[in-house]
Amino acid sequence: MRKPIIAGNWKMNKTADEALAFVREIRAGLNSIPSVDSVICPPFVALPLVSDALKGTKIGVGAQNMHYESSGAFTGECAPDMLTPFCQYVIIGHSERRAYFAESDESVNKKAKAALAAGLIPIICVGESLEQNEAGETHSFVSGQVRAAFDGLSAEQAQGCVIAYEPIWAIGTGKSASAAGAGSIIGVTVRGTLADVFGEETAQAIRVQYGGSAKPSNCHEYLGHADIDGALVGGASLKQDFVDMVRITAELLKT
Ligand code: PGA
Repeated sequence: MRKPIIAGNWKMNKTADEALAFVREIRAGLNSIPSVDSVICPPFVALPLVSDALKGTKIGVGAQNMHYESSGAFTGECAPDMLTPFCQYVIIGHSERRAYFAESDESVNKKAKAALAAGLIPIICVGESLEQNEAGETHSFVSGQVRAAFDGLSAEQAQGCVIAYEPIWAIGTGKSASAAGAGSIIGVTVRGTLADVFGEETAQAIRVQYGGSAKPSNCHEYLGHADIDGALVGGASLKQDFVDMVRITAELLKT
């Protein structure tokens, strides 16, 4: 059985001081729920403080982006080895990075390989736009993103990744996808593509999250779906709601 994983993508929110104060507020609650992997992804500058505050807990820390090169003239970027002292995870290919920072399928693939080589678990984001969804292109587009992101990885490496399926039209809009709809894209499109590339066993081993306006009031629907293994949470991860979501997920495991 795949262990649920709930990750909080803070995006460009909270100063280092605010991050530390908030992590101190939520860490006991999160750490008391070992049946769910919880991961906090603050901005780069808060990573050292957050990682320090979470030492000795089971709570994971992730970065929101990373360069695939190990060093060099890449102003404003962080290399994998700069993150490993503070992180176990890194979000790769978030739709906001694809839309505003020219992240491509090719760079996502390079970053996934670089993250794995550094010992980081990539959380690889895929998802279609509203236009693609309305044009009936979701399956082919998302399947193509998965194929491109995992290109050249071994089955073993693929199993070291997490995928977040985030329909772009549901991110930060309050308009969440239905659990049945998201679950079917995850099961049929994402896992189906992984099965095609790596075989069924590997496809069944990889955890796939849903993302897009996930919150305490709807997370039981997503996590209750057999194909959805967690959530990548934006807005709700900035509040106590995040702990509630991890708790709701743990409760579902008992039913
Ligand atoms: P949201 O963001 O939960 O605020 O919709 C999700 C994400 O972008 O990962």
